[in-house]
Amino acid sequence: MKGCSTNILDLSQRKQIMNHNDKWLNRWLPLIKKKCAEKSLLEIGCGWGWDTKLLVDAGVSVIGIDMSEEYLDQAKALVPEATFLHQDMQQKFPGENKYNVIVASLSMHYMTWENTVKMISRVKDSLTGDGLFLCRVNSVNDINYGAVGNPEVDRHYYLVDGKLKRFFDKNDVKELFDSGWNILSLEEHTIDRFEKPKVVWEVISEKNQDLRSMR
Ligand SMILES: C[S@@+](CC[C@H](N)C(=O)[O-])C[C@H]1O[C@@H](n2cnc3c(N)ncnc32)[C@H](O)[C@@H]1O
Repeated sequence: MKGCSTNILDLSQRKQIMNHNDKWLNRWLPLIKKKCAEKSLLEIGCGWGWDTKLLVDAGVSVIGIDMSEEYLDQAKALVPEATFLHQDMQQKFPGENKYNVIVASLSMHYMTWENTVKMISRVKDSLTGDGLFLCRVNSVNDINYGAVGNPEVDRHYYLVDGKLKRFFDKNDVKELFDSGWNILSLEEHTIDRFEKPKVVWEVISEKNQDLRSMR
């Protein structure tokens, strides 16, 4: 499977891919569960629901949003206990209340830098005072999935197989989380989720103490 395509996968393909599901959230589960308490976690760009399943199996209530109806159908079949909504992440997030924990794995890649900055800011605004955000984004070292050899339309923003795709270096990530965030962990990993190794930044951040005291 090539990263995130729009094709529906049959059962055997899904089983094969499930064997490659890197369970990146496992080590953060104690913190996620502590922060979530009884509240639902919001998952942005949940895709076919692998992370949703890991979270639900651990006892976390999840609301997943994605703009692909096909992926949502697969997610619903995989994790019937979760709530899934067909929604563009650049629109207002669901629910009236703020979230204690938000997750976004490999889904915030398809925006201009300006909109990426707005997105991170909106995630922050949608978190409660000590809210936690766990995300993964493409690294500039993700050479198997377009980080080299494609036309660059803006800095670190490439036309890959007809689709604009953003890659991040460490400074990009630091800039995104520079204001109002406390970065708990920022690590570059090579992951085994798709057919070839993929290089990502894993960023675990919480809302900044100073912001909390201003509330
Ligand atoms: C590479 S897949 C990752 C799926 C899943 N989070 C994972 O890690 O396996 C990216 C997902 O983000 C979704 N996505 C991309 N842009 C989106 C947007 N603007 N709003 C909602 N979902 C979006 C895609 O439909 C796709 O399901």
